[in-house]
Amino acid sequence: MKLQNKNIVITGAADGIGYALANRINQESPNSLSLIDINESVVSVANSLHADSYTVDVSDENAFQEVLNQIIDKNKSIDLFCSNAGIQQFGTLETSTDDWQKNWDVNVMSHIHASKVLIPHMQEQKSGYLLLTVSAAGLLNMPGALAYATTKHAAMGLAENLAIMYGNDGIKVSTLCPQLVDTNMVRSAKELPENHPLLKDGVLSADAVADEAVKGINEEKFLILPHKNVAKYIQGKAFDYDAWIEAVRKLVP
Ligand SMILES: NC(=O)c1ccc[n+]([C@@H]2O[C@H](COP(=O)([O-])OP(=O)(O)OC[C@H]3O[C@@H](n4cnc5c(N)ncnc54)[C@H](O)[C@@H]3O)[C@@H](O)[C@H]2O)c1
Repeated sequence: MKLQNKNIVITGAADGIGYALANRINQESPNSLSLIDINESVVSVANSLHADSYTVDVSDENAFQEVLNQIIDKNKSIDLFCSNAGIQQFGTLETSTDDWQKNWDVNVMSHIHASKVLIPHMQEQKSGYLLLTVSAAGLLNMPGALAYATTKHAAMGLAENLAIMYGNDGIKVSTLCPQLVDTNMVRSAKELPENHPLLKDGVLSADAVADEAVKGINEEKFLILPHKNVAKYIQGKAFDYDAWIEAVRKLVP
């Protein structure tokens, strides 16, 4: 899908990958750009791009859906929805039930809250595009980040199901699955020391990831892999699951 003249919404747009997506997509001359974040700094980000801003928590079903309906009322359409907001939590079995719920609500349920408004809207307009920022952790797991990796796998399953169920209605789905990206999420993670195995494939800039995302949407690719090795790792996993688990076990710090 080409982005020119399209009505586009991005969540988690105040910082990191969402901010880079907003900048990159703005260069494609969309008809409207609406930026959503829980952080009020989204207002100044949007102002700098002549975009609209909405401060809301995407895990708050009613408030989030109200914002999406407001955006549809204002622009008459949402053509591309970038469901990008996410949180990362390190830890294993000590992760509390409350923290599991937070990860579940932001990393999975937010996509569902949005889909409940957007799928019927896109079915009515007979077209639409959802980009879910998942993670390579949703394909290849992530040692030491149990809640993050588990909820990202759920997000991946959700994206596949939406693509399967609604493709015949003209609705496209892409998943953006990078490994490490140079954002606050990674910079603030004490759990990633300099020699962490995940650093092996490099840390991409958020701008490079946004570029790959736009390319993937232009080509209507379901799986967008900014780190090229990830495709090879998925093949290895599918080829021999037991050997793959053994290999990942060796990476446990
Ligand atoms: N940085 C990485 O290495 C990396 C790798 C793979 C996937 N991702 C995914 O990319 C997405 C963006 O991450 P990032 O690295 O840019 O992180 P970030 O922390 O730099 O930015 C995330 C943005 O989302 C917003 N946000 C968080 N919770 C929210 C909520 N409940 N409601 C609304 N907004 C909320 C934050 O305020 C922030 O502006 C996430 O889904 C993350 O899981 C990141």
